[in-house]
Amino acid sequence: MNSKPPFTRPEHRSDAAAIDALQWAAFGPGAYVRAAFRVREQAPHDRALSFVTELDGALIGSVRLTPIAVGERHGHLLGPLLVDPVFAGLGHGKALVRHALAEARKAGTAFVILVGDASYYGPLGFPQRAPREVRMPGPVDPARLLIAELAPGAADKLGGVITGIRRRDD
Ligand SMILES: CC(C)(COP(=O)(O)OP(=O)(O)OC[C@H]1O[C@@H](n2cnc3c(N)ncnc32)[C@H](O)[C@@H]1OP(=O)(O)O)[C@@H](O)C(=O)NCCC(=O)NCCS
Repeated sequence: MNSKPPFTRPEHRSDAAAIDALQWAAFGPGAYVRAAFRVREQAPHDRALSFVTELDGALIGSVRLTPIAVGERHGHLLGPLLVDPVFAGLGHGKALVRHALAEARKAGTAFVILVGDASYYGPLGFPQRAPREVRMPGPVDPARLLIAELAPGAADKLGGVITGIRRRDD
């Protein structure tokens, strides 16, 4: 039987359980002590800027963007990025990051921050470390705090603790 190629679509409310399962498979209970999780606990992710990869009716990848404030300025935090290990190494992770970043740019997001490996995310649009003054609400290796500037100068003089923020319609 020929299966259709995988495709990326916005996350639906009904995807939550499948995404939880991917997250559990990737991090186990360790997910809940990660600094990025603390930010995501403060405010829900933005479903309009969160995407999944679907293959034959099954969800095989997910990326979420959460609205954040850093001082007075607003942007998004990217993560978690998750791909079902059965489908690892096929480019799904990279495709999800590129898609989420392109959609964030279209939506007018000034910057996107994440915690991750520079060797993976650098070529995907996160070429620089976040300014030293930008901090997560928990311990994070500064070399892993990366930023994509979507509006020119968005990272200039950016500083403060990253805080999840609620949008009016949450
Ligand atoms: C990290 C993850 C999303 C990658 O997804 P994927 O679809 O397998 O990745 P892609 O196919 O797009 O990219 C594969 C390439 O990235 C590399 N890569 C994967 N994880 C990497 C990492 N953490 N650091 C550097 N490179 C990495 C692979 O070695 C591979 O390299 P190659 O193309 O030279 O062979 C996936 O492995 C995953 O879900 N991991 C567990 C959760 C996690 O750690 N998420 C990221 C932090 S929130």
